[in-house]
Amino acid sequence: MSYSIAIDGPAGAGKSTIAKRIAKELSFIYVDTGAMYRAMALHFIKKGIDPSDGEKIAAECARADISIEYRNGEQVVLLDGEDVTDRLRTEEAGKMASATSVYPQVRRKLVELQRKLAASANVVMDGRDIGTCVLPGAQLKIYLTASAHTRAERRYAELRAKGEHISLEKIEQDIMDRDARDMNREYAPLRQAEDAVLIDSSDLTIEEVVEKILELAGK
Ligand code: DC
Repeated sequence: MSYSIAIDGPAGAGKSTIAKRIAKELSFIYVDTGAMYRAMALHFIKKGIDPSDGEKIAAECARADISIEYRNGEQVVLLDGEDVTDRLRTEEAGKMASATSVYPQVRRKLVELQRKLAASANVVMDGRDIGTCVLPGAQLKIYLTASAHTRAERRYAELRAKGEHISLEKIEQDIMDRDARDMNREYAPLRQAEDAVLIDSSDLTIEEVVEKILELAGK
């Protein structure tokens, strides 16, 4: 049977950086589920769909062809056969992903893909509902969080490094809005699974969090 590590938590807690590191250490596959919601969001953006139009979202989501490949150990996301990996990490795609991930049709389609990946290999999977919904039987569940202010500061530094300038206040407000949406939606809201270990990364280095998780995995 394959071994699964589920890492859930709010935007900017460091999930993807940490999940990637753990996957590398353990020679597991890293599955970034947020990237799938973002690819679906790109499809809706391309089609000019209003995220509040549930009927159109349901119809278009059935048409979107999203698949995952691994190239040199890196996850590559294909939308209708085209590699869109480099276009997923924008504020626009993130907002659209958060707004459209509330729809059960979108979730069902992507959860099926996520479960298939986990059944076929040992995975470190990160997202919002992995421990609670996608992989309730995961051998190790982590809920990784950090204060909204810390997360905003990290995002601010990331954007500055890329030459984008958005005020820290605006980023923090966006993060709080996104948390509220992800935590309060009806289907599969972001919350800590009962059997998940809570790690607050506000005052921890990436290295410290990685070590803690490897220790919990008994590796
Ligand atoms: O982790 P991320 O920022 O790439 O995720 C983008 C959005 O996708 C997030 O705001 C909510 C949604 N998402 C989700 O609903 N369930 C997941 N397992 C992963 C992401």
